[in-house]
Amino acid sequence: MLTLALSKGRIFEETASVLAKAGIKPLEDPEQSRKLIIATSNPEVRLIIVRASDVPTYVQFGAADFGVAGLDILLEKGSEGLYVPLDLGIARCRMAVAVREGFDYLAAVRQGSRLRVATKYVNCAREHFANKGVHIDTIHLYGSMELAPLVGLADAIVDLVSTGNTLRANHLVEVESIAEISARLIVNQAAFKRKRESIKPLLDLWST
Ligand code: PRP
Repeated sequence: MLTLALSKGRIFEETASVLAKAGIKPLEDPEQSRKLIIATSNPEVRLIIVRASDVPTYVQFGAADFGVAGLDILLEKGSEGLYVPLDLGIARCRMAVAVREGFDYLAAVRQGSRLRVATKYVNCAREHFANKGVHIDTIHLYGSMELAPLVGLADAIVDLVSTGNTLRANHLVEVESIAEISARLIVNQAAFKRKRESIKPLLDLWST
């Protein structure tokens, strides 16, 4: 049995269309069903539905053999125990630093000010600012980061930007790009060795 960890939405839909090339169809739609383990038309392949940020954890511990995870999550959590063979090129966006319109970010950096940075990507933010020699205090949030600079919780945020609409709607501006992000196929290294014969044909579906 092979277990594939996916998050709902775009990643599930794109993955389902790739699996369809091998005639593998999910027997339920996670948007309709509350089930977290979804069987497929291939009795040897099942899907588990988890939060996007939890996909690497399931794969790292071997509870799933492989999965699809955003590079943002992999950068934040590390990819120990994972084999990351493919950039799937989907769910593209970038991780960026943004501040309130009118906040002079460059001057703050030049003056060596200590910045308060709100983010769910605490490790990425620490590394980014350490590389620039900027001292920061991080404030760990779980969503709606754009609010933090507006109500005085933070000077800056580190968040994902896709269309830029959320920043614009909240009068924030992007001041630095940290990384280009897209979804990656991730495989448990031990499972890849042990179950290579059954995993490999599935991985090949993404390259064809
Ligand atoms: C993401 C991200 C931004 C927004 C950016 O949030 O955290 O808030 O999308 O997209 P845009 O540039 O196209 O406006 P999402 O809606 O995925 O929710 P989240 O806060 O739970 O991550």
